[in-house]
Amino acid sequence: MTDAPLIDIHNATIYRGDTRVFENFSVSIGQHEQAAILGPNGSGKTTLLKVINREIYPVRQDDSWVRILGRETWNVWELRSHIGIVSHDLQMHYRNSTTGLNVVLSGYLSSVGIHGLLSRQITSEQREQAASIMRELGIESLAATPLRKMSTGQQRRCLLGRALVHNPDTLILDEPTAGLDLSASFDYLARIRRQIASGKSIVLVTHLLNEIPPDIQRIILLREGRIVADGPKEEILTEENLEKTYDAGVRIAKVDGYYLAYPAKSA
Ligand SMILES: Nc1ncnc2c1ncn2[C@@H]1O[C@H](COP(=O)(O)OP(=O)(O)O)[C@@H](O)[C@H]1O
Ligand SMILES: [Mg+2]
Repeated sequence: MTDAPLIDIHNATIYRGDTRVFENFSVSIGQHEQAAILGPNGSGKTTLLKVINREIYPVRQDDSWVRILGRETWNVWELRSHIGIVSHDLQMHYRNSTTGLNVVLSGYLSSVGIHGLLSRQITSEQREQAASIMRELGIESLAATPLRKMSTGQQRRCLLGRALVHNPDTLILDEPTAGLDLSASFDYLARIRRQIASGKSIVLVTHLLNEIPPDIQRIILLREGRIVADGPKEEILTEENLEKTYDAGVRIAKVDGYYLAYPAKSA
């Protein structure tokens, strides 16, 4: 196994359509780091994930690269065993008739749902593994349930299962609790913490301070495609840094290893 960084982005200029989201952007995240990328809507978080996931490529230029574990080229299968990306973007691409089991199994095919002949490519070993992951995530009873009959929290857990079928070393989670109620959020965050406890690394992408598990050590603050601050959580999550990042008066409270943000009194 290489000791190269998990993610090494150097001098990347990245467009979404006509919008330049990043210009000469660099960031490096080591293997086994527990990190969170925090920033307001539109700051470029999801774009960054799509670059890591090879859905978007930066502009080709000298002295610029995107390396995963030291390599610039990957096939999708190899990449999945290192990095699993859980984004609810993906959720919207599934037919609402897709069953829980098929969402999880679709991870093996890196596809959205499994249809017709494709399902024959799934081995019985893979089915067993999918069933075991579903048990672990408490969604075994949803195997035959279509997505449209599930709560958002249940759908989200099926997508987590989809990423876990490859047993990736690192999970990258894009706004994992968006749209979940308090109890579903807490349940999901507890499952993520269990993944950390079982040895996985997490890169959490969020705009919410209070969903950063205490296990996360490094914080990268992003605003308009630039890093505002990057380093150990205790140093980075200051009122001053958050005000710069969010352009709002912010106060912070720290409770049981969690950080809570609330509005500063206006002058
Ligand atoms: N498909 C797209 N076409 C054009 N611009 C886009 C597209 N997706 C995102 N953007 C723009 O890219 C910027 C970064 O978006 P995004 O990475 O989704 O931010 P975040 O995930 O932090 O909310 C925003 O200005 C957004 O409007
Ligand atoms: Mg986003």
